Amino acid sequence: MATKVILDCDTGTDDAVAIMLAALHPDLELLAVTTVNGNVPVEVVTENSLRVLDHVGRPDVPVYPGAAVALARGDFPVPRADLTGFEMHGRHLALPPSRSAPADQGAVAFLLARFEAARSAGEDIVLVATGPLTNVALCLKLEPRFARTLRRLVVMGGGHEVGNVTPSAEFNFWADPEAARVVMRSGIRELVLVPLDATHQALLDEGDCRRLRSLGTAAGSATAAMVEQRIRAHDQSQPMARPGSAPVHDAVCVALVADPQIVTTTGYHVDVETSGELTVGRSVIDTHQRSGRPPNVEVATSVDQGRFVELLLQAFA
Ligand code: RIB
Ligand code: CA
Repeated sequence: MATKVILDCDTGTDDAVAIMLAALHPDLELLAVTTVNGNVPVEVVTENSLRVLDHVGRPDVPVYPGAAVALARGDFPVPRADLTGFEMHGRHLALPPSRSAPADQGAVAFLLARFEAARSAGEDIVLVATGPLTNVALCLKLEPRFARTLRRLVVMGGGHEVGNVTPSAEFNFWADPEAARVVMRSGIRELVLVPLDATHQALLDEGDCRRLRSLGTAAGSATAAMVEQRIRAHDQSQPMARPGSAPVHDAVCVALVADPQIVTTTGYHVDVETSGELTVGRSVIDTHQRSGRPPNVEVATSVDQGRFVELLLQAFA
């Protein structure tokens, strides 16, 4: 029985790999994609998501457009492409323009209705959020029962030893700190957080790109091209421990749904800084129980890189 998944993303290059993995892995059933402002403006996120699904032969998966701005701040986030200038994501993905149209319903209305329907039908759906958490926070604000309706949420975000948009903070949390705090404090039963400390353990290199391209499939070749783009951007501006390699953050979140053994997690209390001059958007992960508060999040502390790459190769074959 495949695990049902809904993906909330800000499609850039690593979200694109996450979408392809969710759409193609035999043990996953991608029900829908919802889009949010983040790497690029939400209308570009929506077009990019449609392009990816068309490209891998899944135009049947609906795409629901979501929040165009952060929950509370008018000046967050400058789309990342404007922030840094390097082409980690670019603007539109280098894929043919979409042939499919987005759904008429908005992301938040869709998520609330779909998870309520799932609750009353006893249906399990995993929500995987790989962009700023604006849509998820809006669901929680509009319907506080959403925290109980939503059984399992997997989030790519935060960083403990590692920041990528400031020394303190990771992009998804930094781009909408108030939304990230709402979600961490929501009491969602199973909240799994995959921070940069984990995703930086699953680096892909040129050799992996060659193996992906040798699959001779649309997903394999598109993933190879996107990872090569990410390797160039990282080498130029955010070099990894191993030069010539790059993390594919968002795909790790989907991979762990298909194969939980890909990650090791530890329960920690996690909150989000929303006012620090130097620390706004920082995930405050209480690794030494200093807050006196019980764990509210399962935090991924390690990733099996080899298992992750093999899972991608098998799914994209
Ligand atoms: O910090 C990495 C995260 O920010 C990834 O989800 C990437 O796609 C961007 O959204
Ligand atoms: Ca993302």
